[in-house]
Amino acid sequence: MKILELDTPVLTIDADALDRNIERMKDMTAAAGIQYRPHAKTHKSAIIARMQTEAGAIGVCCAKLGEAEVMAAAGIDNILITTAVIGESKIGRLMHARNQAQIAVVADNDDNIDMLGRIAQLSGQKLDVVVEIDIGQGRCGVPPGPEAARLAKIIDDHGWLNFTGLQGYQGKIQMVTDTGERRTATETGLDLFAATIADVENAGLKVRIKTGGGTGTSPFDLDRGLLTELQTGSYVFMDSRYRGIGWPGANEPPFEQSLHILTSVVSKPAPDRVIVDAGLKSASSDHGPPMIADVEGRIYEFGGDEHGIIRMADGGEVPWTIGDKLRLIPSHCDTTVNLYDQFMVVQGDSVVDVWPIDTRGKTQ
Ligand SMILES: Cc1ncc(COP(=O)(O)O)c(C=O)c1O
Repeated sequence: MKILELDTPVLTIDADALDRNIERMKDMTAAAGIQYRPHAKTHKSAIIARMQTEAGAIGVCCAKLGEAEVMAAAGIDNILITTAVIGESKIGRLMHARNQAQIAVVADNDDNIDMLGRIAQLSGQKLDVVVEIDIGQGRCGVPPGPEAARLAKIIDDHGWLNFTGLQGYQGKIQMVTDTGERRTATETGLDLFAATIADVENAGLKVRIKTGGGTGTSPFDLDRGLLTELQTGSYVFMDSRYRGIGWPGANEPPFEQSLHILTSVVSKPAPDRVIVDAGLKSASSDHGPPMIADVEGRIYEFGGDEHGIIRMADGGEVPWTIGDKLRLIPSHCDTTVNLYDQFMVVQGDSVVDVWPIDTRGKTQ
């Protein structure tokens, strides 16, 4: 089947660009001597997770327990859940999934650690726990420093928990446009991370995993060499926000756009605008509207749940007609992927495969 024969709106992955992105991350981390544990919250696909582990990733990160359950059942055997798992019912599920894979989870408070320990004991399996530190995000995590060492000691002293390491991730600096500012913000966070590692080690504990970093900070995380593993997610697909920020070197992103929304013109009510079938339910809006790929001078705006409106930047006639198909670049890949059930995998102008988006909607 040819791409242009696909019904729309549909999410496509360029197989060759995806392969090159996976290979590039492998090369970048290998050159820096750092491991990588890509974040599966981006692609939500067991097939892509397997491609990453086959390319040398030590495992994957999952944002939610529900994602980890699916990945573990699909045979991904080394998983870090990067948000806390709270409450008896979820920790029970966690220990059940732990039968299928090596799973570690982050924690940032005594009550959660206590409950993780009690339920691990009931299930008869030890659980790996990573202490989350807040290195600047202002979200979860203990403040860097002695508080992290205190929690690490509690975990280490517990017979059913293993203190495995520290996580520090700053989402809000990933897309700082100015390359120098982003480098400085990365360094500042990593300084706090380094000081916390020292505190934990001074308490007599080994910090085996030092985990964090995203696509935007990856060049600087790799330069610094403090982390033992990178959690980059978006690099597999990229999006217009990530494409628009500055990058070190030639100012070109090291990763290619592999993800697109294919959409069709469904109406041309006036010469200066066409209406396409991808609206708010086909392209996430949290980072603004998608961009139009392949051509210049055309602007997309959301026209409602099911519609997008495209005009020429100069107000002239739009050179498209009903039935024409065009590609959009999502503004935010993670949240756009979560709107679809499957990826159409394309190569050249042909559709070569269909991959399920296995953890779509797995928010619990
Ligand atoms: C904890 C954590 N680590 C890593 C990532 C991956 O970041 P990116 O998609 O920017 O590479 C995310 C994304 O939100 C995250 O929440």
